[in-house]
Amino acid sequence: MVCWRASRAGLIALSASGLALLGSIGVDAVSAQASYEVEPREPQFLYDRTCGYCHGHNVGPILLGRGLSPQIVSYFVRNGNGAMPAFKPTEITDTELEALAAWISVSQSDETEHGQ
Ligand code: HEC
Repeated sequence: MVCWRASRAGLIALSASGLALLGSIGVDAVSAQASYEVEPREPQFLYDRTCGYCHGHNVGPILLGRGLSPQIVSYFVRNGNGAMPAFKPTEITDTELEALAAWISVSQSDETEHGQ
């Protein structure tokens, strides 16, 4: 575990220096990408595409209608747990996660879902 974290930190350092290198040789694509803004995707859309794939389909536990706190939802999304993958801010932005977590927290249960 420690090893994995250490090598991951190494990778991040490596890619950061890679970006710095690209910047120093004048490649514009990197800064263009960094400043590119997209509209946040709606919670229902994200849930259906990203979470409902497992949750409510016998892989992850049911989330809707349980009054889970937004903090718990955000924690699992960023950190994962066992078979639950972690999602990076490049996959689900902080803004999107905040809205998604609030939406799940106050959601009604959906009887078309199944699982524990
Ligand atoms: C690949 C399948 C998969 C996907 C995709 C997935 N999850 Fe999970 N999730 C799981 C599994 C499996 C668990 C149970 C993990 C454990 O505690 O062992 C879990 C646990 C959770 C929990 C804790 C629930 C509880 O009752 O303990 C939350 C909250 C959660 N996921 C939110 C999300 C959200 C939000 C998304 C979408 C952004 C998402 N998950 C996407 C599989 C998935």
